[in-house]
Amino acid sequence: MKKTVKTFSQAKANGEKLTMLTAYDYTTASIMDSAGVDAILVGDSLGNVILGYDDTTAVTMEDMIHHGAAVARGAKEALVVVDMPFMSYQTSVYDAVVNAGRLVKEGRAGAVKLEGGVEVCEAIKKITDAGIPVMAHLGLTPQSVNVFGGYKVQGKDELSARKLISDALAVQNAGAFAVVLECVPARLATLVTQQLAIPTIGIGAGNGCDGQVLVYQDMLGMFPDYTPKFTKRFGDVGNAMKTAFTDYINETKSSAFPSEEHTYKIDEKLIQRLEEELK
Ligand code: KIV
Repeated sequence: MKKTVKTFSQAKANGEKLTMLTAYDYTTASIMDSAGVDAILVGDSLGNVILGYDDTTAVTMEDMIHHGAAVARGAKEALVVVDMPFMSYQTSVYDAVVNAGRLVKEGRAGAVKLEGGVEVCEAIKKITDAGIPVMAHLGLTPQSVNVFGGYKVQGKDELSARKLISDALAVQNAGAFAVVLECVPARLATLVTQQLAIPTIGIGAGNGCDGQVLVYQDMLGMFPDYTPKFTKRFGDVGNAMKTAFTDYINETKSSAFPSEEHTYKIDEKLIQRLEEELK
């Protein structure tokens, strides 16, 4: 059965944990979907882990549409949430609604995600009014890396902790169906979770959130550039890939690959005739 925003509200009501993982292509989305993940986030982290940028600010609407549609084709049951890229919603509420609409129409999103608190509430309201579910994102919001001056834990002092709580209530009141809390002290994330009627999805925000999200390359050990403290490695796929690539190179160079079992046959008489003719 297709999962929807209802799955999120029911999980919160029943105290069941929600699972979300990032994906950026059809194959990975299909595997995650068959594993039973609740939601797949086409994160603008694709700027880092797929496109090799230093941060997410260079990611475009076209990137998100291209990868969103690929993931949606693989996600038969999981809710597909597509990130609104930097400057696709900050410029005006009109831009926010138009671009959210494109992510649904062209990128096949079931919901969109955008970063920020009070300052994006008008956009959240108008996008939701247009019939598009919105997931909010608070705490460390990577599109603001240049304001934060790096990727730092947020909400550690009183002012920013209070701001996180009021932002969370504001995005809920604006109509967000869930909120990602990134890099927030665990006790603060638990407090926010208890205050909200909508589910919180944590990443580096401890075990008290209503669900968790991870970037799949991080949890599979595939992204050597940087591993955040909050990431647990659930697999060693990066090394498994490297071993397989090395085996392929060695077997090809030694002519061990392709062997008989990976080779097509032709009628013996026909090939002999052709060989004779071309001698
Ligand atoms: O872009 C992304 O992958 C995200 C997650 C880190 C929540 O926003």
